[in-house]
Amino acid sequence: MAIIDRDRQRRVYLVGFMGAGKTSVGECLARELRFRFVDLDREIEREAARTIAEIFRDDGESVFRRLEARALRAIADPAGVVVGTGGGTLTLWENRDFIHRTGVSIWLDAPLDVMIERCRLSDHRPLLADRPRMEALFADRLAAYRGADLRIDASVDAPGALAARIVSLVPGLR
Ligand code: S3P
Repeated sequence: MAIIDRDRQRRVYLVGFMGAGKTSVGECLARELRFRFVDLDREIEREAARTIAEIFRDDGESVFRRLEARALRAIADPAGVVVGTGGGTLTLWENRDFIHRTGVSIWLDAPLDVMIERCRLSDHRPLLADRPRMEALFADRLAAYRGADLRIDASVDAPGALAARIVSLVPGLR
């Protein structure tokens, strides 16, 4: 992995598709690093005082993306933070650029079927759809995920083990 400057080492952004485990791994990683953990979706909901599903239903995806971009900037300071982003956060160029400039991005990757299975019981993801549509969405986003600083296979290990692996692989994280 390329050398990362001190300030960027103190912001870790977990990126990846729905069901990749960004929240569970992020919580473990934050505990390990003694950083705070912020789940971007929860932050958007708190700010808007509405659920993600309500925002999508009432205002549509583009308004959601605006709120998401704003929340991302608001939570980045102070440093010392692990951010669990949303599956579509990287679809906006401005977000990719912001994440790259301010922190380290870790792509939690897993086979699509594993991620779909993990989302099966979820009722709060408006973009959850049948397999062909999930496949298309994932394919659309692959290039953005591939731009992350590091890719981790998140399909087998438990969140704590994945967090430990991230700490061991990112130079200077601890
Ligand atoms: C989305 C993923 C969700 C949430 C919103 C949109 C997406 O986050 O931000 O429903 O575009 O893939 P998770 O990846 O945490 O499910």
